[in-house]
Amino acid sequence: MSEERVSKKPQTALNRKRKGAESAVLLSQINLGEEQRIKTGFSELDRTLGGGIVKGSVALVGGDPGIGKSTLLLQASDKIGENYGEVLYVTGEESKSQIKLRAERLRINSSNLKILTETCMEAILDVLVRENPVVAIIDSIQTTYSLDLESPAGTISQIRECASKLIDFAKSSNVSLFLVGHVTKEGAIAGPKVLEHMVDTVLYFEGEKNYSYRILRTVKNRFGKSGEIGVFQMERFGLLEVSNPSEIFLSEKEKPFSGSVVVSTIEGTRPILLEIQALVSPTSYGVPQRVCTGIDPKRLSLLLAILEKKEDIHLGVFDVFVNVVGGIKVDEPGVDLGVCLSLISSFKDLAVFKSSVVIGEVGLGGEVRGVSQIEERIFEAEKLGLKRCLIPYNNYKAFAHKFEIEILEVKSLNQAIELTLT
Ligand code: TYD
Ligand code: MG
Repeated sequence: MSEERVSKKPQTALNRKRKGAESAVLLSQINLGEEQRIKTGFSELDRTLGGGIVKGSVALVGGDPGIGKSTLLLQASDKIGENYGEVLYVTGEESKSQIKLRAERLRINSSNLKILTETCMEAILDVLVRENPVVAIIDSIQTTYSLDLESPAGTISQIRECASKLIDFAKSSNVSLFLVGHVTKEGAIAGPKVLEHMVDTVLYFEGEKNYSYRILRTVKNRFGKSGEIGVFQMERFGLLEVSNPSEIFLSEKEKPFSGSVVVSTIEGTRPILLEIQALVSPTSYGVPQRVCTGIDPKRLSLLLAILEKKEDIHLGVFDVFVNVVGGIKVDEPGVDLGVCLSLISSFKDLAVFKSSVVIGEVGLGGEVRGVSQIEERIFEAEKLGLKRCLIPYNNYKAFAHKFEIEILEVKSLNQAIELTLT
């Protein structure tokens, strides 16, 4: 519960004036101008936005503090400024000189980039109307406040009110906006979550502290596919895009060892190859541990139960560790078979044949089930020079593309084990 004082002036009278009634129009009579997408200079960012920034759209960029949101948007502002016209960067977090310092470090010297340090929403809107930029960035929405409410900046009502004013502005002026939102400890409540339903696009910037990779994930997009990811790398001079992530996530794999399996997952529209590593070792304390990073612990328990029941592999007195290399999180059943094989590989201490990729969902009966976008996945594996590909039997058909890579179809987990680990 949080107490909120109500302003004396009735709010509705302040900011909700009735406009002249608009009449309804036929869908067929609405003319689309040429859909113009503003390119940000980062094809990875464009991809997550569905192909570039749509005019008049509002995108929320959320993420932990320090993950690189301001860096990304400042770098993008530079490129947009160069190619399309003025960009306004409104900051409530840093001073002008701090921004300047960062810009120098990022080697940004755009003549079209304007900085405003302001947190009062009414003032920000005045400047926005006056400057009429192509794109504006509000960093961050949590520092802004509207005079219409008495609650302090950062409260849910202020965040909502400020965002709704900005959204109204974007829709009426055709200026595209990026709103930065920190995911706070109480993330779900006071953070950007409360805005997700209001904005057009929601992007989350994530990454692990110990890796330089950053992943920008589309959680919602009214102008493109959600689930899309963009991969970046944080360097000394800012963010660099990684246009072929599979290469990076696999690059360290020199020779095969037990417990390591390459899988293929689909993120949005893009296939990505990842390495799963498992370690199965006898428990030295009472309760065996199940530790995993990058995959859902519940899914791991389920797969362990299937191994126990269907394959007669009893891991009850073993610690089990599973790790997705590179700090990526996968949330897709197409990697099940790979996880199972990595567990068995570590358990039996047998390496899976070098240069193979394993694709398939594992059902409760130990059967291997089909996955989506199989051809894209095989194609990605072939592109990276892998030699062998295990796919679900149900997915096998006459593929449109002629693959050089050896394709093996499997019906069950049992058959997959026989093919790879004997
Ligand atoms: P920042 O963009 O300020 O994060 P956010 O706006 O999401 O809070 O990023 C800050 C981090 O990025 C900081 O820990 C330092 C690092 N960084 C680099 O490694 N290289 C750089 O060139 C810059 C500008 C930042
Ligand atoms: Mg910042």
